[in-house]
Amino acid sequence: MSTQTELEHLFCRAFQKAGAQRDPLVTVSARPDLGDYQVNGVMSLAKSAGRDGRELAADVVANLETNDLIESVGVAGPGFINVSLRSAYLIKELETFLPKSSYGCAGGSSEKVVIDYSSVNLAKEMHVGHLRSTVIGDSLARMYAYLGHEVIRQNHVGDWGTQFGMLVAHVLESEHGNLMFELQDLEGFYRKAKIRFDEDESFADKARGYVLRLQRGDAEVVHIWQVFVETSLRHCEQVYSKLGVQLAREDVRGESFYNPQLSIVVSDLMSKGLARVSDGAVVVDTPAFQTRDGEPSVFLVKKEDGGYLYATTDLAALKYRTEVLGADRCAYVVDSRQDLHFRQLFDVAGRAGYSRESVEYDHVAFGTVQGADGKPFKTRSGESIKLIDLIREAEQRAYEAVSSRNPELSDEARREIATVIGVGAVKYADLSKHRLSNYVFDWASMLSFEGNTALYIQYAYVRSKSLLRKAEGQAGSCKKDFSHPAERKLALQLVRFEEVLVAAASEYLPHLLCGYLYELSSQFSRFYESCPISCDGVADSLRLKLTSSTNEVIERGLELLGIGVVDEM
Ligand code: ARG
Repeated sequence: MSTQTELEHLFCRAFQKAGAQRDPLVTVSARPDLGDYQVNGVMSLAKSAGRDGRELAADVVANLETNDLIESVGVAGPGFINVSLRSAYLIKELETFLPKSSYGCAGGSSEKVVIDYSSVNLAKEMHVGHLRSTVIGDSLARMYAYLGHEVIRQNHVGDWGTQFGMLVAHVLESEHGNLMFELQDLEGFYRKAKIRFDEDESFADKARGYVLRLQRGDAEVVHIWQVFVETSLRHCEQVYSKLGVQLAREDVRGESFYNPQLSIVVSDLMSKGLARVSDGAVVVDTPAFQTRDGEPSVFLVKKEDGGYLYATTDLAALKYRTEVLGADRCAYVVDSRQDLHFRQLFDVAGRAGYSRESVEYDHVAFGTVQGADGKPFKTRSGESIKLIDLIREAEQRAYEAVSSRNPELSDEARREIATVIGVGAVKYADLSKHRLSNYVFDWASMLSFEGNTALYIQYAYVRSKSLLRKAEGQAGSCKKDFSHPAERKLALQLVRFEEVLVAAASEYLPHLLCGYLYELSSQFSRFYESCPISCDGVADSLRLKLTSSTNEVIERGLELLGIGVVDEM
């Protein structure tokens, strides 16, 4: 159990004994000069109970049972409770706080967590717009799994719909050579087909005809469609593997999977009186939510031409995740611009009885990656940037950075390091921002050794590793208490790992873990400068433990962000 949770339990009982009914909120102290943790909520509680805040706080403190965590408690201001921990407790915690495998069930209950992420539209190459869902979703999946939950990854790829009719038409209606050859340039193929589709009405009609044939299961069309899907997925997998993203083929459950369910969903919505026909299309009114123009919104589930939509598929998918996968929690890691869609989805699913009260459904929204001009990040000529090119550039830039910093390393070693730190820099730059904010993609700041960057943290790892290497084989002292404030600060930060992880996972905020690792690395740097490990061939055992724990926490923490470490740089 994390220190925070233990304190919460202790204070909960003290609150009750003091006659106050409400769970206290324990957070790490905003005023480290006054204590390690602070207990919030006394003032508002006192107010509603008509009591004096300071007096209630003193009452709570007087009712604290004896324990081996707390060194001292102080009441400050109008009723802040500040807690300082015992050094002996911190040292004992250091021994056990980081289990080798996962934490087992966080807070005692293991959930089934469905995470929908990456979910790209196939037939085009992955571009920078796919970065955030892929990277944030992957980190969340790793965190939930590490905390002992059962994670079900769902790559809800767009593998169905008009664009496939267009591609099939482009193959069959032209004097094409070899299909596989054409598909080597998937993006170019798509672009050419799209131009024809937009400019040639008879081609567009044919494309629509192929969509119908695809839906009906026409063998020739289905075969070509499968080739597209396969080619496209293989391309995605190449990007996933370069990015170190844990999405496998069995995690793909694309839109086409739900195709057989769509007509059933629509007739069910009709029979439940939720849907109505409007201009030949079928819609569900969702008046609680407004469109961008301030109009009451509708959820379109069937087009006038009989086709089904993104919304219909998502209703079927939500039902499937709830009923078949048995999810306790469904997270959708999708761009903020789809906010209205998800509000409508959860609302309609609720009314139709597809969702359950006991299950949590969350749209894990995120902002845009921007260029220096504040507009969505594009190439100079205004095209979207392919992820594969972005990764290549990251590796090249990292290679240059490593080469200038450490020219005596072999070329092979520099390349290997560059792969890890280049990709790590891009991912970390994304994960370290609050997901809801937009951010500017900037090579210089993400590849800096200073500030809140992956490099800074990976460098702390390198330093801790080399310290451990140097101390190897030395006799160890047997120290039982801190002798320098930097040691105690580092210990306190280390043992907070679980508490930060739980918060980052439950609020879907990987930047909390990034901020924690950055702070840990800074604490370690202060410790490193003022607390030498060895003296006359004797290694200080406590300092050694602090160093090895830092090393492990950084490695584990970065791994949960999907980022690697290197032994030298
Ligand atoms: N393919 C969609 C897009 O590119 C994202 C899908 C997200 N997941 C979902 N269940 N709607 O916009």
